[in-house]
Amino acid sequence: MQKLEIIIRPDMLEKLKEILNRHNAGGMTVMSVMGCGNQKGDINEYKGMRLNMNLIPKIMAIVVVKDEIVDDILVEIQEKLSSGKVGDGKVFVCEVREAMRIRTGERGTSAV
Ligand SMILES: Nc1ncnc2c1ncn2[C@@H]1O[C@H](COP(=O)(O)OP(=O)(O)OP(=O)(O)O)[C@@H](O)[C@H]1O
Ligand SMILES: [Mg+2]
Repeated sequence: MQKLEIIIRPDMLEKLKEILNRHNAGGMTVMSVMGCGNQKGDINEYKGMRLNMNLIPKIMAIVVVKDEIVDDILVEIQEKLSSGKVGDGKVFVCEVREAMRIRTGERGTSAV
């Protein structure tokens, strides 16, 4: 099982939901977040001083899925959610050690 932390532009959420639905993801958690990447939120210099990082509203979706579908999801996110402009977002992938469905006690991939 892998956890995808998918950070995207807010107006791309509907497209992301369609992708995850098509790949039969078992669920998702969505948060409104603030962040910046390489461009530090595009802040310019003020009187020669570099201003601090500027945080821009983004959406973060957390999705835990079976290993087999991770690559397909990544490929489709790049295809459908890339505008080619800076700030499109990122996906971080990490291994999930365990999962449990609270209602039934199912563990592992059966719980996803
Ligand atoms: N290294 C990071 N760690 C945690 N969050 C990050 C990181 N990089 C980007 N993010 C999150 O992703 C959002 C979008 O990042 P962004 O797409 O601007 O990344 P980038 O590396 O600057 O790429 P690009 O050059 O295409 O803009 C940020 O607002 C932030 O929430
Ligand atoms: Mg950026």
